[in-house]
Amino acid sequence: MSRTRSPRRRAKPLRLLQFTDMHLCPDRSGRVKGVDTMESFSRCLEHARSHHWPVDAVLLTGDLVQDDSRAYLELAAIMARETCPVHCVPGNHDLPSEMDALLGQPPFDLSPVLRYGDWTLVHLDSSVPRAAHGQLSAETLEFLDDALARFSDSHVLLVLHHHPVPVGSAWLDSIRLMNGPELLEVVSRHRSVRGMLWGHVHQSFELMREGIAMMSTPSTCFQFVPGHDEPAIDERPPGYRWLHLYPDGTIDTRVVWVHGT
Ligand SMILES: [Fe+2]
Repeated sequence: MSRTRSPRRRAKPLRLLQFTDMHLCPDRSGRVKGVDTMESFSRCLEHARSHHWPVDAVLLTGDLVQDDSRAYLELAAIMARETCPVHCVPGNHDLPSEMDALLGQPPFDLSPVLRYGDWTLVHLDSSVPRAAHGQLSAETLEFLDDALARFSDSHVLLVLHHHPVPVGSAWLDSIRLMNGPELLEVVSRHRSVRGMLWGHVHQSFELMREGIAMMSTPSTCFQFVPGHDEPAIDERPPGYRWLHLYPDGTIDTRVVWVHGT
């Protein structure tokens, strides 16, 4: 998803990489739906390091682990060599308090609001304990409203796990962000949000909605078939997304599919 721009408007962008739904297991023999999730995430990371480095920050948008907090230690070991900040939001398979405790030191930075020059990244916890669907608490919506008022001079990218708009797949839409309309209502009170970025749906989805780029990204392990009303595993390979956020508020972004070696 990109908007056309003239070369003279080009300026140095904020460069981000998004990896999502890694579903990491605590030991090397772990598999999810038959996929060695550690191996496929490592392959995505190496691909990105070869093709899209350096970056200003890495975003991990939920389902970092498959229901076992010991996998955060594996993730910390994999990311230890990063020199840029790594920002995370929890998904429905994460354990938020354990995530906060085990990923509490550099390169991880779990601050909900991060200012990068002309841009502000706002991370929202949409997870609900022991539930697959998402919900933003009243406190989180109030926090967002305040943050958008405070950073009204900035372009904003909202980052969360669950999809705030339907993606056209009945089973996935039944576990979407259930109060997505409330989120969109808060966003509509301000004029600074340029993009919303999420995971959860294990597929690429892009939509321009009232000038806001709405984006989901494939998982680093397995994908779901878009448009299916019942769960179905897609044959598409692992993937990730790069984003360039420009000072004029435009976003250049692409999904990268990582085919087998
Ligand atoms: Fe997931």
